[in-house]
Amino acid sequence: MKKSIFLYSLVLILISGAVVASNYGDDVYDSNLIAPIKKSKKDPHENYNKMMDVIMSPRCINCHPNDHVPKQADDGHPHYFGIARGENNHGFQAINCATCHQNTNNDYSGVPGAPEWSLAPAEMFWEGLSRKEIAESMMDPVRNGGRTAEETMHHLTEHELVLWAWQPGIKADGTPREIPPVPLDEYKKAVKAWIANGAVIPEN
Ligand code: HEC
Ligand code: HEC
Repeated sequence: MKKSIFLYSLVLILISGAVVASNYGDDVYDSNLIAPIKKSKKDPHENYNKMMDVIMSPRCINCHPNDHVPKQADDGHPHYFGIARGENNHGFQAINCATCHQNTNNDYSGVPGAPEWSLAPAEMFWEGLSRKEIAESMMDPVRNGGRTAEETMHHLTEHELVLWAWQPGIKADGTPREIPPVPLDEYKKAVKAWIANGAVIPEN
């Protein structure tokens, strides 16, 4: 009998030891709470990563191709009807982008639209580049249209072709286009904070 009580208490002591031990480590205690709160492991490049998650989305890359052909949909297939950049990124005369793409989405025909719909100039190509390479290109005045960091910030947070990505309309097959993976407000805040903190591009 004595022996079993001894064993029983030993087991209890071991269990409580394990419980206490498991509460150490990364957890933080709030004196008002019994349960520990998990300390969030903060990403030092959180703003950069939010911004790049948006930029890598097909809604952006489709218009920043590495050839002269705009891309379509989430798989980035070449634009139907043999559409290409033409002389000034607005398509060839007979089939100008604006022949089909109006100032707003046409949800009946499935043609997306926004003011100044055209292909990003060749030097602003992003398709096929890594996050880091895109960020570098975007901040390089030789390739970004001579923009300062401040001007790039305005383009990224205010330009109508950028904002279109969060209201991309309905596809020709009647289903909605995917929007970028970060909500617009959160993305804008991240871009502004990233630029304000020196636009640091991490190694990977
Ligand atoms: C309909 C086509 C289209 C879409 C969609 C589009 N862009 Fe662009 N983008 C352009 C064009 C055209 C320019 C050149 C405008 C200029 O230089 O004034 C450009 C230029 C830029 C620039 C400035 C150049 C540089 O390299 O820094 C940035 C930044 C940019 N786009 C970001 C984006 C982001 C982010 C998205 C998605 C949220 C996006 N774009 C979606 C057509 C598009
Ligand atoms: C003959 C009509 C027509 C012309 C001209 C045209 N487009 Fe399109 N475009 C469409 C249609 C229709 C879709 C939608 C396809 C779908 O969603 O299935 C589309 C989709 C797109 C998309 C895909 C958007 C996305 O993220 O999925 C881009 C980018 C695009 N067009 C760019 C251009 C550019 C740039 C030009 C001029 C160089 C142009 N288009 C000329 C009809 C046209």
